[in-house]
Amino acid sequence: MMSDGPKTHASRQALDYVKDGMVLGLGSGSTAEIFIELLGIRVAAGLKVQGIPTSDQTKEAAREAGIELLTIEHADRIDLTVDGADEIGPNFALIKGGGGRLLREKIIANASDLMVVIADESKLVETLGAYPLPVEVDPFGFSITAKKVFDVLKNKWSAPPEVKLRHEKNSTRPFLTDGGHYILDCACGAIKNPAKTATQLCAVPGVVEHGLFIDLARVVIIGDDNGAQILER
Ligand code: 5RP
Repeated sequence: MMSDGPKTHASRQALDYVKDGMVLGLGSGSTAEIFIELLGIRVAAGLKVQGIPTSDQTKEAAREAGIELLTIEHADRIDLTVDGADEIGPNFALIKGGGGRLLREKIIANASDLMVVIADESKLVETLGAYPLPVEVDPFGFSITAKKVFDVLKNKWSAPPEVKLRHEKNSTRPFLTDGGHYILDCACGAIKNPAKTATQLCAVPGVVEHGLFIDLARVVIIGDDNGAQILER
């Protein structure tokens, strides 16, 4: 049973954006899973929606919640995506990918009419970058790709960035995304111009996707101990 904390307050508020008949992008992470659980309660009460999961883990959570699933290939539209974030900066620029699902999350958010981000207050920041930026790379030549990613990030801030290959928990095995890629976690400090950094990272061969989500979220719902606040742009 979920606790009635900030993530639950944000998730419950996000249900107001869900209408009967919608096709929904279902995000990944602990906050998104609370949303899925609450959505399942509405579905059990008669709400009709179809969900497109952003990860295998989310697919399982949605199945358990009794939400009808749709593959992205069979969707003619996605009305709304509800997802969490690791950091939310100015203009709702985001860092995502803490859970390693950023590629599918970005494909689905980008294809959606509306992206709503749900989070607790700790995720709101003045400048992105305290959270290490996840960059998804092809395993082929990943150490060369890592050096190029370092070069993109190094000249911008005083301390040199740390670019680390993510591993499975308590293991020497590299973490593999649902798409079979590696993740580089890049601790680079303040990202002063996220849009420019995003463009530069995309230009590195071997980079499949990065965790900077620019101009995708239109609504951010921040939960706290007492309720939730809706921010829109
Ligand atoms: C997964 C993500 C998540 O949305 C992000 O990590 C936030 O997760 P949580 O809600 O557990 O804090 O981007 O790739």
